[in-house]
Amino acid sequence: MERTLIRETVNKVEQKVLLFGWVNSVRKHGKIVFVDLRDRSGVVQLVGGSELKGLGHEDVIKVIGIVKKRDQRAINPKLITGEIEVLVEKLEVLAKSKALPIDIYGSGLAIDERVRLKYRYLDLRRPRLQRNLRWRSQLAHLFRQAFLARDFIEITTPLLTKSTPEGARDFLVPSRLRPGKFYALPQSPQQYKQLLMVAGFERYFQLAPCLRDEDLRADRQFEFTQVDVEISFVTRDQILNLIEEVVIEVFEKAGFKIEQKPFPRISYQEAIKKYGEDKFDLRKDPKSDHLAFAWVIDFPLFERTETRDLAPMHNPFTMPHPEDLDLLDQEPEKARSWQYDLVCNGFEVGGGGIRITDPQIQEKIFTLLGHSKEEIREKFGHLLEAFEYGVPPHGGIALGFDRLVAIALGERSIREVIAFPVNSSGQTAVMEAPSEVSPDQLAELGIKLAN
Ligand code: AMO
Repeated sequence: MERTLIRETVNKVEQKVLLFGWVNSVRKHGKIVFVDLRDRSGVVQLVGGSELKGLGHEDVIKVIGIVKKRDQRAINPKLITGEIEVLVEKLEVLAKSKALPIDIYGSGLAIDERVRLKYRYLDLRRPRLQRNLRWRSQLAHLFRQAFLARDFIEITTPLLTKSTPEGARDFLVPSRLRPGKFYALPQSPQQYKQLLMVAGFERYFQLAPCLRDEDLRADRQFEFTQVDVEISFVTRDQILNLIEEVVIEVFEKAGFKIEQKPFPRISYQEAIKKYGEDKFDLRKDPKSDHLAFAWVIDFPLFERTETRDLAPMHNPFTMPHPEDLDLLDQEPEKARSWQYDLVCNGFEVGGGGIRITDPQIQEKIFTLLGHSKEEIREKFGHLLEAFEYGVPPHGGIALGFDRLVAIALGERSIREVIAFPVNSSGQTAVMEAPSEVSPDQLAELGIKLAN
């Protein structure tokens, strides 16, 4: 007999069905026992006698039964299967469940997060998180579809790589074959996607895992996902238009309401003057399925660090505004760049820029940033060399995928849309890394701990 999914039971009145799932609840009414059975597609009411009595929450069962129409009075409009129930003929318990350490039927938001994440595999059973991860998957699919339809290619870039200057601390991975040397996990695929432009792919995208060792917040994780994009032979406005078109297509197909089209474009200076920040909330209707996007453009090329040194506002590969090239020598902090950010409902959800492809401008920027010739060669030599073999003008952007999903679903933290996030002290869900490793593992890597 073939399995029937619970949501299909409504089409099988008076038929025999085979169901599998978890016990949501057990209610006894004298001799009759009602069980709510849950599978990935929904919940259905089972009706039976004493054979159902021994069932407990979250037991996994196999049921054969007959689908029956409910009495008019017994219809439950809250369930998609609310007009039917299944009369149990045969029941088999496939696995018992112990009493759960956390409630999984409510929102879960009041439960200590460390406990939720320790038992994340149970936490994920709650309807809200089931919904969130299904939405995440669907939105990822829609982004892929939108880019593939526009002649983009998705390319996977390496996770073991060299430090990339995106402004955060790197996660380092020691090398066994070259003791004393380290890989870095990518803060973003920035340099690889630029190399892919040199390689002639012209239109690249990737749902890219990125890793940054920075302070954790509701909108920041060590590991997160970018919708990463790079394009050759484009102007800034062409990139903004294309990304805007894709974002609108994805979120409208998914049923969200975009409040303002085209997205307003605001200069960085204007944003700071008007909102005091370069991210702001333009929503007129703060419902959770309403999205208000805006572009922030004309960022300054540099910012001053606490030690008064110049640091790149975005990254050192961002092209200075052509009108401001003359400012680089005298007043570099006045120069604008071809950086742009995308904001949504008060959050920064994307950032990118047109890249420098002129080696002289690139060297000048590196020098202004205080890198010696030695350092430039050591850190960025590969990119500068690649640019000597026919580099197309190019630019791109990366969208913060976790943030977009969380905002669209009205979640306060991106941890609610990531299957296994780290907790606020950086411990991984369920497995509780970081953990100690054996002296043998360390010895193999040539590493001695300094206590
Ligand atoms: P940027 O550093 O601005 O740009 O990152 C792009 C977007 O990624 C999201 N984001 C994060 N989301 C969750 N947790 C984090 N720790 C985190 N850090 C960033 C934000 C941000 O807007 N290589 C460039 C892109 C480019 O120039 O094309 C880059 O990474 O939403």
